[in-house]
This record gives sequence, structure tokens and C-alpha cells, in this order.
Amino acid sequence: EWTMAEFRKTKIAEIREQVGDSRVICGLSGGVDSAVAAVLIHEAIGDQLTCVFVDHGLMRMGEAEQVVSLFRNHYNIPLVHKDVSPLFLGGLAGVTDPEAKRKFIGKTFIDVFEAEARQVGGADFLAQGTLYPDVIESVSFTGGPSVTIKSHHNVGGLPERMNMKLVEPLRELFKDEVRALGRELGLPDVFVGRHPFPGPGLAIRIPGEVTRERCDILRKADAIYLEEIRNAGLYDAIWQAFAVLLPVKTVGVMGDFRTYDSVCALRAVTSTDGMTADIYPFDAAFLSRVATRIVNEVKGINRVVYDYTSKPPGTIEWE
Ligand code: XMP
Repeated sequence: EWTMAEFRKTKIAEIREQVGDSRVICGLSGGVDSAVAAVLIHEAIGDQLTCVFVDHGLMRMGEAEQVVSLFRNHYNIPLVHKDVSPLFLGGLAGVTDPEAKRKFIGKTFIDVFEAEARQVGGADFLAQGTLYPDVIESVSFTGGPSVTIKSHHNVGGLPERMNMKLVEPLRELFKDEVRALGRELGLPDVFVGRHPFPGPGLAIRIPGEVTRERCDILRKADAIYLEEIRNAGLYDAIWQAFAVLLPVKTVGVMGDFRTYDSVCALRAVTSTDGMTADIYPFDAAFLSRVATRIVNEVKGINRVVYDYTSKPPGTIEWE
């Protein structure tokens, strides 16, 4: 019988065999996959592994801090934390096309990561938290082999450019299996159970131009939404839930005043692998509570709508 405990043992042996006494570098995205890969590899080869967290400043509320504390305090795994949000936000100024955002973020991530890798003395291997659905989607994604709907692979091309070999211990796993492996490795439940988060982060949840101010507004609305979802006990029943800050202003009224502020859209879907998804059917009282809180507590948003589109025909993200 196949268990996660056995998978862990087998993979650790495989990683040791593959890597020998070479150095491995792992880029953390802040998400579950790269964190599980890093912890597993660390268990296999200890301080032959260097972890680099390129912090683009486009994470959700409190998430960058969580990753740093998980590695440094919980596991005592050395971590280089590169806070480069000015670089990312500077480069995103004036960029509104979704694929242009992805390309800029992917390229900048690689540049920063490459520079850091040199700083720590280089490595022969690059570790990535690639999952089975990523392997499939990079071959053929929804529309057939020649159609790229979204470019998902944020560090594509990096291994060739840096002349490194890949270590991808999660390649055979689906998301729920990665979570089980994470628990097996002792990662905290709140971390392992986190909803998937895209590499380009909040940049693709802010249609139009991404600014620090809009990131801050979105982070607040998103945190309220997720807090209400957790309080209602619904977090684990949902694949992904998030807020999107729309580049549309509408008129509202607050007390005696007219407001003219942005619209926030709420999204929540169920899914097993992200390839197809159904909308999560919240009850009206829940949605109205979230909408009231967001409009009352987040300056810059005066209207909240709920996205009722499943995938297909919608995608999970708005960009
Ligand atoms: P879509 O929006 O294509 O998303 O239905 C499917 C899953 O992929 C995530 N996603 C991304 N992940 N880089 C990533 O690492 C990306 O550019 C990207 N775009 C979408 C999305 O959050 C969902 O889980």
C-alpha cells in the first residue's frame, strides 16, 4: 500500500542519489508547493540546500512574514529573503496587459534569483515545486497544444540559462497529495491548507495598472473576505477564494456623502486540480456580511460584486 511516509522515504533516497554532494538552490514563491519541496529536499541533503525567497511584494496580507518565520523559526532552514517590491512595482508601472504583467514578473523574478544564486556561490541543481498538473498544462492547456491561454511557468527557461539541472520531487503529485506530504513533513496545518496562489500574485488580481496603493486596498479587502470564510468554517471546502480590485469606479453614498470609488469582485471556486472549477454557492447572508464589512472598512472600495462564472468558460483568475 502506498503511503506518504513511504513516498517521503523514497523521494529522500532519490534526491540524495540524484544530487550527490552538489549544491542545490531553491526559489521559494511563498506558496505551499515550493515550501514542501524545499523542506523535503532539506531533509534529504541538509545544508547543501540554499533557499531564496524573492519577495515581489504582491503577496496576500501577512504571507511573506509567514514563510520567513516558517523556515527560520519552525525549521531552522537558512533562508535568503530578498525584499524587492520597489523593483517589481516600478517595472509594473503603466503595464496593463495580463501577459505583459506575467512576462515582466517572470523575467524579473529570474533576474533577482540569478543574482542571488551567484551571491551564494552558485549551485549545480535548481529545485522547483512543479506538480503533475503543471507538467500536463505546460504540454497542452485547455485549448490544445498550440494555444497558450496563460503563461503559467514563471521560472521557465531559468535552468537552461543558469546551466543547472532540475530537482522536482513533486512532479507526480496532485495538490491534495502535496498537502498530505506537507503534513507528513510537519508543516503547520494553516500553511499546508492554504489556497493556491499564482506566481504573479496580486498583479493579476488588479486588472489595469498595478500600484502599491491598489495592492494595499486589495490586500485589506481580501483579508476581510478570507477571515469571514474561515470564521464560517468554509475555508477548507473551497479551492480558491480571493478578491479582485476592478479598474471601474462607481458612485455610492456613505452617511451624508457621495462616494466615487472602486468596485471589488469576490471569487470562490471548488476544484480538484484547477483545470475545471465550479463557483462556490455562498448564502446571501454571508455575501452581504462580507460586502458590508469591505465597504465599511476598506477606504477606496464602495461596491462589492460576486462572480458567478464557473471554469470553463471563465478562468479562475480574472487575468
Ligand atoms: P486559471 O486562472 O488559468 O488558473 O483558471 C488555474 C490555476 O492556476 C493559477 N494560475 C497561475 N499560477 N502563475 C501561477 O503560478 C500564473 O501565471 C497563474 N495564472 C493562474 C490559478 O490561481 C489557479 O489555481
